[in-house]
Amino acid sequence: MQRSELIGRLRALPPGRRLITALDVPDADRALALAGLLGPSGGFVKVGLELFSAAGPAVVAGLRDLGRDVFLDLKYHDIPNTVASAARQAARMGASLCTIHAGNGRAALEAAAAALAEAPAGPGAQRPALLAVTVLTSLSAADLEEVAPGGGTLADRVARLATLAWESGCDGLVCSAADLPELRRVVGPGPLVVTPGIRLASGTADDQKRIATPRQAAEAGADFLVIGRPVTGAADPAAALAAIAAEFA
Ligand code: C5P
Repeated sequence: MQRSELIGRLRALPPGRRLITALDVPDADRALALAGLLGPSGGFVKVGLELFSAAGPAVVAGLRDLGRDVFLDLKYHDIPNTVASAARQAARMGASLCTIHAGNGRAALEAAAAALAEAPAGPGAQRPALLAVTVLTSLSAADLEEVAPGGGTLADRVARLATLAWESGCDGLVCSAADLPELRRVVGPGPLVVTPGIRLASGTADDQKRIATPRQAAEAGADFLVIGRPVTGAADPAAALAAIAAEFA
C-alpha cells in the first residue's frame, strides 16, 4: 500500500475512532479489562514500553481479539537492520500505528519505512503507519545542548527532525498541539499527526505542562489524539471517551 493511501484511510476514520487511549498499566489483565470498558465505539489503544515489557505480543493479540486497533508505541532507536526487523514484527502483530525516534538518522528511518512498505505476511498482519518522535517533550533546550551541542534552538531541531522523518518515508509525527501549527508550516499537510496532552476544559492537567482541549487540537490539525488518565481514571471510561469525541468532531 502506498503511503498516501495509508494516511488517507486513517484520516477517513470517524473522529470517535481517531482517539487513542493510553493503556499505561503494568500487566495484561488490567490492560484488557480497561480496553473492555471503552465500549464498542472506543477508538485505538496505545501499548507503550511498560505494558509491552510486561506482557509482550500476547497483550497486542488480546487487544486485537477485543476488536481494538493498537498503537504500538515502542519508539525504536537502533541500527537500520534492527529497527527494520522490529517494524516488521509490529506489522506481524497487526499494529495500526508504531513509533520511531527521528534522531535515529536517515538510513534507519528509511529502512523501517521500507520494511513496512513490503506486503505484511501472515494472518492478522497489516502495515502500521510509522510515526516519528522528534524531540521528547521531557527534554529542555539545555538537555539537548548537553547531548548534541550546536544544533540550534529547540524549534530548529524539531523542524529539522520532522522534515527528515517525512523525507525518509515516515507516515506521520507525534507532536503536541502547541507545536503543531509550526510543524504543519514546516512539513505541510501531508504527515499524519498524533497529539498527546489532551484535557477537556473541565479536567485536571495532572503532570502535563502544555495541554490542549480536543477542539484546540483538531483546529491545530491533529489527526489522532492520545488520551490517558482523563479516560483510564474516569468512573465511566466509555462516557469520558464519548465526551472527548464530541469535541473532536
Ligand atoms: O494521562 P495522559 O493523558 O497525560 O497520558 C498521555 C499519554 O501520552 C502517555 O502514555 C504519555 O506517555 C504519552 N505522551 C505524552 N507526551 C508526549 C508523548 C507521549 O504525554 N510528548
